[in-house]
Amino acid sequence: MRVTIFGTGYVGLVTGTCLADVGHDVVCVDIDAGKVAALERGEIPIFEPGLEPMVRSNHAAGRLRFTTDAESAVGHGEIVFIAVGTPPGEDGSADLQYVLAVARTIGRHLERPGVIVNKSTVPVGTADKVHAAIAGELAARGADVAFGIASNPEFLKEGDAVNDFMRPDRIVIGATDAHVVDRLRRLYAPLNRNHDRIVVMDVRSAELTKYAANAMLATKISFMNEIANIAERVGADIENVRHGIGSDPRIGWHFIYPGAGYGGSCFPKDVQALARTAAQVGYNAELLQAVESVNRRQKLHLMELITRHYGGDIAGRTFAVWGLAFKPNTDDMREAPSRALLHALWDAGARVRAYDPEARDEAQHVFGERDDLDLCESANAALAGADALIVITEWKQFRSPDFTRLRGALRDAVLFDGRNIYHPDEVEAAGIAYYGIGRGR
Ligand code: UGA
Repeated sequence: MRVTIFGTGYVGLVTGTCLADVGHDVVCVDIDAGKVAALERGEIPIFEPGLEPMVRSNHAAGRLRFTTDAESAVGHGEIVFIAVGTPPGEDGSADLQYVLAVARTIGRHLERPGVIVNKSTVPVGTADKVHAAIAGELAARGADVAFGIASNPEFLKEGDAVNDFMRPDRIVIGATDAHVVDRLRRLYAPLNRNHDRIVVMDVRSAELTKYAANAMLATKISFMNEIANIAERVGADIENVRHGIGSDPRIGWHFIYPGAGYGGSCFPKDVQALARTAAQVGYNAELLQAVESVNRRQKLHLMELITRHYGGDIAGRTFAVWGLAFKPNTDDMREAPSRALLHALWDAGARVRAYDPEARDEAQHVFGERDDLDLCESANAALAGADALIVITEWKQFRSPDFTRLRGALRDAVLFDGRNIYHPDEVEAAGIAYYGIGRGR
């Protein structure tokens, strides 16, 4: 099928590339000419394992093209996806200006009946606004072109996005028009072979499904962080508690890892946006607000442990930090817990020597040049001259350090493990003081 995707950000690029890979003829549009030129050369602007070779091979095969020409792109697609950003506005609600600008562009150029699909994460009711924006442009130029709208939220995880797209556990299609549903079923048929993963529902339910999924996952994390904070105070180990509850299939093993708080471009933004939507319809979403406030506090929990260890005497100390990205296998630092922690350390007068396998450039961009930050080339280099080590992102390469060497490298043998990736006994056996999350035993 001929597919057009507006937006070559994370979601748009993964969607376009994967749809091309299963044989569709895909055109991706972006207003950023530099980005489009780079993509045409096979250079991708994000770090996502497996994506770049797929972009190159599908581009070489002629199934995946990039352009700034919205008119020809709208002409190309039987199905047109809107996959542009919905950044949080000042009040936490999702800013729809980019989504609606694309809708108007589609309305200006649509000549044949088409299916318009919203893949951006958007508040309930947005599909109606997209419909109105397209219809308004069609009316303004006196065009009578039939079009259908669907909501088709994405559930990709950064770092595993290609796999998530190619092996979806569900494909949610929000549309009431049978023709639209049929089109999308055909589009996704290559990913829907062995058993039917397509869940069809009305548009508003599909829009809410996306927020509900992320809010539920964020709730599990904040819940565990809350229990961890209780565990710390009552002399229990949250890791034992996690094992004790995860085996109950009603609870499950996933997303019950306590840590330095959740970050990324989705959970923080989506939990706030859903609370905001609730408020707009007169409902006080107390649980969602608590999920958000527990997370905000959790991002500073390591700082509390550090302050306690040093009795508040932090100024002039140097901390080695392993990991800056909001999670492993990405260079993304949006809402990363490392940001809150580093600023708290700096505010207390400390210096930071940080290492992240992928987020060095991003960190440079986020923090700028500062005297109290050294971005190091390796995990070992970050230890040089540091008092203590803080681990904040659980990259695989941090998992089994040589603790004896670590002890020798640190001035003050202490380790703050923000992701509970080490066994306290092993660390302590090497003569290093250990602090984890919720490990009060
Ligand atoms: C999340 C969802 O997992 C995807 O299903 C969804 O499609 C995506 O948002 C989106 O809306 O686009 P992502 O933000 O890439 O994906 O990252 P996750 O792997 O979900 O991790 C989010 C944060 O939660 C990370 O900071 C991670 O460290 C933290 N986390 C995760 C925990 O603290 N504990 C856990 O048990 C799991």
